[in-house]
Amino acid sequence: MDHQPATLPPHILLFPVPIQGHVNPMLKLAELLCFHDLHVTMLISEYCHSRLLRHGNIQSRSLLNPAFRFKTIPDGLPEDHPRVGVRALEAMPPNVTGPLFSELMTSTSCLASETRRPVTCIIADGILSFVGGFALEKGIPIIYFPSISACSYWACFCIPQIIEADEIPLKGNGMGLLVKSIPGTEGFLRRRDLPSICRANDINDPPLQFIKTECRKNLVAHALVMNTFDELEGSMLSHLRTHFPNIYTIGPLNTHLRTRLATEMTTSSSSSSTSSGSFWEEDRNCLRWLHSQPSKSVIYVSFGSITVMTREQYMEFWYGLVNSGQRFLWVIRPDFIAAGEDGESQIPVELEEGTRQRGFMVGWAPQEEVLAHPAIGGFLTHSGWNSTMESITAGVPMICWPYFADQMVNSRLVSEVWKLGLDMKDTCDRVTIEKMVRDLMAVRKEEFQQHVDQTAKMAKRAVSEGGSSYCNLDRLIQDIKSMIVVPHRSSERELTL
Ligand code: UDX
Repeated sequence: MDHQPATLPPHILLFPVPIQGHVNPMLKLAELLCFHDLHVTMLISEYCHSRLLRHGNIQSRSLLNPAFRFKTIPDGLPEDHPRVGVRALEAMPPNVTGPLFSELMTSTSCLASETRRPVTCIIADGILSFVGGFALEKGIPIIYFPSISACSYWACFCIPQIIEADEIPLKGNGMGLLVKSIPGTEGFLRRRDLPSICRANDINDPPLQFIKTECRKNLVAHALVMNTFDELEGSMLSHLRTHFPNIYTIGPLNTHLRTRLATEMTTSSSSSSTSSGSFWEEDRNCLRWLHSQPSKSVIYVSFGSITVMTREQYMEFWYGLVNSGQRFLWVIRPDFIAAGEDGESQIPVELEEGTRQRGFMVGWAPQEEVLAHPAIGGFLTHSGWNSTMESITAGVPMICWPYFADQMVNSRLVSEVWKLGLDMKDTCDRVTIEKMVRDLMAVRKEEFQQHVDQTAKMAKRAVSEGGSSYCNLDRLIQDIKSMIVVPHRSSERELTL
């Protein structure tokens, strides 16, 4: 692309793994970068792209901005792969996607076109280390974006020390003991709260080894981007910064994007709502139902995009919710009940009746709008990192039922460190659920609400002009801009860090 004008903006490649909880924050980052006049290409799987086109509104919003475009790549899975539940995480196997990625980048001169420079910086999911390999070889700056909390990431990064200290494999032993080998977490993180990969019985377990290795491979990066903020996770971030001196904490991304859009839109008078990147059809009827409910009376129940329940667990939750006597809005994805277990049959009449009186169920909700609704007073969540941040920014206390992965850590932070709710990890019985729902929504309501309001305020400050995340995003943008050296001759392309 010898004839490109030297004035073309920097061109960032964003590359998330193709699951909802990783695509959402990348889309928000994409909007923020485009908004600052940078060119963005988001590389996603064909499967994920088709779902976004079918169910998201990405076509119609600011991502329609010519600065943004999608490119697709196969997800490396066979046609008939179910791509649901934790099996969705099998997408992008490095041995298949790595070569496909290199081939795509090479054959397109790093995604250059008449109007775009070759990619000048790559921001990739923290578990796509093959991208870093390519970037290093080509001299393209690479930034990793682990879309989990700083504390969860730090716990994963410390897996070698945890193994060394003989604290894993756990083999179900001493689950209540505090973990001693992760600096900074000694006072609150129990073995039970470690990322679920640590529950493997053998240290050679492939997922455990994979995460251990991927985190270490992130060290080649120019920097990390994280969807958290310094005031929330300062201590964990200072530990991480001893290994990654440059971390751009720019979260909570959902509010950050809204704040920046709102500021800008007051001058241009357009809407300040952001794009939806939903993989499922959002059922907006739940908002209408919420409009008719009293203030802070409804507990929102959603377990994200991956959690799958047995029919037995499903029934325990349902009884617990109905028996609590509280109003509830429950998201039950079409693939939410484990395959082969019929979620529909034999519904006891008392559950049908309780739900008709006080409940509402949908297949997928516009979650951020739901959480921001005045009728919502609590969130029963699986503690995915996006849901946690969205709940904090909406000022909604949580009951945590972590399902796997980083969620084990997040739920401990919510309950023990930030005091924003309750953790029901490793239990699933109707009596506990009923009690916790009552505690959150009634008995201890004021206490949790006070803490969550303070934390929401802190989050808002972080993304407001002059706040920590606000300044870090500006710094990220400036640094991305400085990664281009304007060529002396039109045929030269140089990159610097
Ligand atoms: C995955 C991992 O499972 C999680 O552990 C990790 O922290 C992030 O990636 P997921 O399980 O889907 O994410 O949970 P979460 O991080 O909460 O992301 C779900 C996203 O889907 C949220 O942004 C939420 O707003 C959205 N959502 C969920 C909806 O829009 N509607 C719904 O009905 C449910």
